[in-house]
Amino acid sequence: METLATERVIIVGAGLGALYAALALAPHPVLMISPDPLGEGASSAWAQGGVAAAMAAPDSPEAHAIDTIRAGAGTVDPEVAAAVTAAARRHILDLTDLGTPFDRTAEGGYVLSREAAHSMARVVRVKGDQAGAEIMRALALQVRAAPSIQVMEGVMASGLLVRDGRVAGVELMLAAGGASEPVRLEGPAVLLAGGGSGGLYAVTTNPPRICGQAIGLAARAGAVIADAEFVQFHPTAIDVGHDPAPLATEALRGEGAVLLNHAGIRFMAGAHPDAELAPRDVVARAVFAEGQAGRRPVLDTRAVLGGAILSSFPAVAQACLSAGIDPVTQPIPVAAAAHYHIGGAETDRHGRSSLPGLWVCGEASSTGLHGANRLASNGLLEALVYGCSCAADIASCLPSAAQAPEVSLPPLGAAPPPGPQLVRRLRLAMTAGAGVIRDAQGLRRALREIAAVEAAQPGCRPLLNMTATATLIVAAALLREESRGAHFRSDFPRPAAEIGTRSRMTLAEALAVRDEAVQASSIAAITQR
Ligand code: SIN
Repeated sequence: METLATERVIIVGAGLGALYAALALAPHPVLMISPDPLGEGASSAWAQGGVAAAMAAPDSPEAHAIDTIRAGAGTVDPEVAAAVTAAARRHILDLTDLGTPFDRTAEGGYVLSREAAHSMARVVRVKGDQAGAEIMRALALQVRAAPSIQVMEGVMASGLLVRDGRVAGVELMLAAGGASEPVRLEGPAVLLAGGGSGGLYAVTTNPPRICGQAIGLAARAGAVIADAEFVQFHPTAIDVGHDPAPLATEALRGEGAVLLNHAGIRFMAGAHPDAELAPRDVVARAVFAEGQAGRRPVLDTRAVLGGAILSSFPAVAQACLSAGIDPVTQPIPVAAAAHYHIGGAETDRHGRSSLPGLWVCGEASSTGLHGANRLASNGLLEALVYGCSCAADIASCLPSAAQAPEVSLPPLGAAPPPGPQLVRRLRLAMTAGAGVIRDAQGLRRALREIAAVEAAQPGCRPLLNMTATATLIVAAALLREESRGAHFRSDFPRPAAEIGTRSRMTLAEALAVRDEAVQASSIAAITQR
């Protein structure tokens, strides 16, 4: 395998954390690895609600931190919550300066949306449901114009180079067309900002490429992965058989939209005092239960929005119309879908992972902010705060380098991409065994399926990254014998205690759990003969 070297900081991924960090690192030279055209294909660009931030009285960072801790179901790190919520306003002002056209009031304030489990309207937004797309558009323009940033599109990282326990660079492949033979690129620091894992599930709101690649890279290099079992399911993915499933933002429920079943019963009204604005895990389980019982849950926006949905929530309206649903006159069919991976590579307050040389931010990281159930619209906020912290910390560790030549890769030969049937099998196994409701038997079955999928295409790096992340999610879910936040076990339906502990696991530890599940099933098969 050919080896190249660069003095540029290597940023893997091109979502919000990646773009923000690249800009904050200037003038230090950066190479950004973007599998898709810049600004497209990242979950951040698909975020609808916006960014949670206490922008003005009567709100405060303290109130925001309290809501974050309460929603997080006993495992939020309070110091992280305090620090992130305190920084929120500064980053919104910065995004405004960088060109994000946030919705403004007649007096010049920020229009704020209400989302579930927030004690007040606190989510800054753009054109109703365009926050992610517009923030990414503004930052992508800045990144393209920054002389210090080289953007390499159509390329993905397939592995991390580790030398003497330190991350020393990345292995790169062509992303377009599936895969290629890799090339090694050594660099002074690697920032992993490549998104979460929604695509490991058969029903997800995430862009197609977001399927556990980034967390898998960190895990295969030996990094500690924290809270892997906490996968957040969004209650209102639009259920029209599309993959990925379009999102109907929680802000619709903030406006007063209600959840009904096919009998017209408003099932959240009796389920939780906050009804449709209960914490996301509660609403997701209720929507899932209605769907499982064949009662076809829907989100009804007609009474509160009527025709205004077309202009106030254009992305949702367009998704409905393109599926043949007129949201002005019809309720929107919904299902729970994998939406956000709370767990990820464990990081400290600077965004440092457990491996020297590797920083992680955004959904691929686990900072302790989200606990067991992320508060709505805290995801983009965390990406901003930690993208900035990572940049500052990386810059403080490196000699100043004002210029570095651009990296150009040699021609890369083709290699087989992950088999589509294997990927499908993996996604079905995750949804069946490690979905909204879990139990030990289903989790063990999922582990065996993951092992079988991995064995069916040995050495395929993108598939190995996916199976690594899947293994970590399921192994951690099997070991957590309680229900907490987004992790619900029907065989352990209550939390073990009010305050919980975060999980920490290496891939080697998760593989040991998986091997045990595989062996137990082989022994059972032999004894039954
Ligand atoms: C939404 O708009 O409902 C999603 C917000 C989030 O996931 O933070």
